[in-house]
Amino acid sequence: MALFVGLMSGTSMDAVDAVLVDLADAETGSPPKLLACTDLPIAPELRRELLSLRHAPHNILEQMARLDVEMGRLFATATLDVVRQAGVSPAQVTAIGSHGQTVFHQPLGTHPTSVQLGDPNVIAEITGITTVADFRRRDIAAGGQGAPLVPAFHQAVFQSREKNRVVLNIGGIANITVLPADTRQPVTGFDTGPGNALMDAWANEHLGTPRDDNGRWAASGAAYQPLLDILLRDPYFNKAPPKSTGREYFHLEWLRGALRIGKMAVLPSHDIQSTLCDLTATSITEAILAHAADVQQVLVCGGGIYNQTLFLRLHELLQPREVLSTSIFGIDPDWVEATAFAWLAKQTMDGKPGNVPSVTGALHMRVLGAIYQAG
Ligand SMILES: Nc1ncnc2c1ncn2[C@@H]1O[C@H](COP(=O)(O)OP(=O)(O)O)[C@@H](O)[C@H]1O
Ligand SMILES: [Mg+2]
Repeated sequence: MALFVGLMSGTSMDAVDAVLVDLADAETGSPPKLLACTDLPIAPELRRELLSLRHAPHNILEQMARLDVEMGRLFATATLDVVRQAGVSPAQVTAIGSHGQTVFHQPLGTHPTSVQLGDPNVIAEITGITTVADFRRRDIAAGGQGAPLVPAFHQAVFQSREKNRVVLNIGGIANITVLPADTRQPVTGFDTGPGNALMDAWANEHLGTPRDDNGRWAASGAAYQPLLDILLRDPYFNKAPPKSTGREYFHLEWLRGALRIGKMAVLPSHDIQSTLCDLTATSITEAILAHAADVQQVLVCGGGIYNQTLFLRLHELLQPREVLSTSIFGIDPDWVEATAFAWLAKQTMDGKPGNVPSVTGALHMRVLGAIYQAG
């Protein structure tokens, strides 16, 4: 057995996802064996505070330092949950791969960086398990975007020699990994733009719920094409990869800017939700058609798969390509990302690289992250 824990908390800030997986057969390309999993909700007050870091108050450093420890404790709790669930002892686990909670991601400019909270010192101390963390900054230092980092894992478990595949992860932000059947072709991948983030934020503002459950609210409205056109005009969508984005860019103010340009202040809120759903589906489809037109299978993971309105729309737009859940290929769509960080921890522990330069734009393959030894 080669036991690893993967910890992930995405841009949605809905929950800390944790898995305990056996990666003993990972070298042969068979999917990791899921032994236990949990998603530990991030309390609304904590989430609000994490989100508020974008609007930098005076005591920002004190707040960041405190949230770093608080998130570290939450990640440790999630780890102990899955370890207990699987009936193993922490000593049997080789390492934890902890992504951390991104609160700032700015891969461009004169001082490119990305900030994740969840102090790995705290995680290693509480769990007694060696912890690998801070995966993104090494790739950024090597000239990359620091994102997405899951493609190396997607390649290891989902690449096929028969079919051209795309892995589509719909979290707060959506990202794709292009896996050509011809393995001599490079693996590419990038963030396509908003996934659930805008739909979540709009539902929260108008329904007071954290999300549009199953996309029912979006289904009750109709997409408004003139608004969709304005939104799709944003230069991010046509920018050449490598590219990555976050909530710093796609937020409600971004939407309000478009509503002002279109003088659409009186548009019914459910029509706007429907338009946002279409925005996610259309921007994903256009990205796939532009960079992987010959794809035959689109493997979907991430919480967005449960938004039925979105999923149906993707089916329609991507026809005749197959749109399938990753569960068909051995990994539950809820746990792909967390499992990827367990796998990335193994790469680091084995001294192997975790980034794909053709994806992130880094100048070199690099061993990612830092290792915080247990005991
Ligand atoms: N039943 C559902 N109906 C609609 N949306 C859902 C449902 N379940 C999950 N989601 C969406 O998935 C998101 C969480 O997905 P996740 O993959 O964890 O994203 P992230 O990686 O950004 O945290 C939620 O914010 C929500 O938008
Ligand atoms: Mg999540």
